Amino acid sequence: AASKLIVLGSVNADHVLQVDTFPRPGETVIGHGYQVLPGGKGANQAVAAARLGADIGFIACVGDDDFGHRMIERFNEDGMETSAVMAVEGLPTGIALIQIAASGENSISISAEANAALTPEVLAPHMTMLTQAETVLMQLESPFETIELAARTVRKAGGRVVLNPAPARALPDSLLAELDMITPNETEAEMLTGVGVETEADARKAADILHDKGVGVVLITLGEKGAYVSSSEGARLVEGYSVTAVDTTAAGDTFNGALVTALQQGKSMDDAILFAHAAAAISVTRLGAQPSIPRLEEVTVFMKNNA
Ligand code: RIB
Ligand code: NA
Repeated sequence: AASKLIVLGSVNADHVLQVDTFPRPGETVIGHGYQVLPGGKGANQAVAAARLGADIGFIACVGDDDFGHRMIERFNEDGMETSAVMAVEGLPTGIALIQIAASGENSISISAEANAALTPEVLAPHMTMLTQAETVLMQLESPFETIELAARTVRKAGGRVVLNPAPARALPDSLLAELDMITPNETEAEMLTGVGVETEADARKAADILHDKGVGVVLITLGEKGAYVSSSEGARLVEGYSVTAVDTTAAGDTFNGALVTALQQGKSMDDAILFAHAAAAISVTRLGAQPSIPRLEEVTVFMKNNA
């Protein structure tokens, strides 16, 4: 049967190095703990959804290399539908160079590599996955025309389009008009609206601009302050959990994957956000993107213990 939830997005090999503090321009710092770990915003969000119980199909391109093939195996192990995860001949899997500071903050540079091959032509054989989906979740590490095409297709077929607009960039009104929900962080919200977002009042301003452009639900993540959600049902701040950060990489991805999973399962918006906060909080206590993403049981226990 067709998956109800589809994630379309990137797969990256994350080259991770831990540093005390980030090097300034021209500076060399000594790092430690080099590892190559599974990442990519699309894959992270798909893995989160799969581990948290969603019936999920993933649309992505990996390279025709060991890492890419191993990633497809891992996606299968996590219970994802992977018929639309394509290994592209002659290209390496996407990469991310990640430095993690002792504070838990990260600094990331990416190169698309095989992710750039997810063109509208390559998507074409998988269009029924989109037309049969109830929800599609996307990010901005895939070719822009593909994201636009997928959004239009899902919308036309009556499905729900959710965009996590990361990494930050401005978006045309034509795409915003196709979105049922958008989930920027503060930086991304500013990039989209021109409103510097720090307080709840700023978030209100930014959300109104996005509503005016046709986005139904605007959810702005405000880091430790929580998530500001605004829709025709009203607006409020839903606070998160406070944990000691080891590595915040993929916290946002875990949040997004968890959020759409909970909404897909019929949870209320507030319950879905709280569940997503819990999953994301667990992920920041561990190193790495996909290695840090929890399973449903762990989130359930965490929420009980922190109620
Ligand atoms: O959001 C975190 C992800 O961003 C990392 O896994 C890295 O691959 C980059 O895409
Ligand atoms: Na993490």
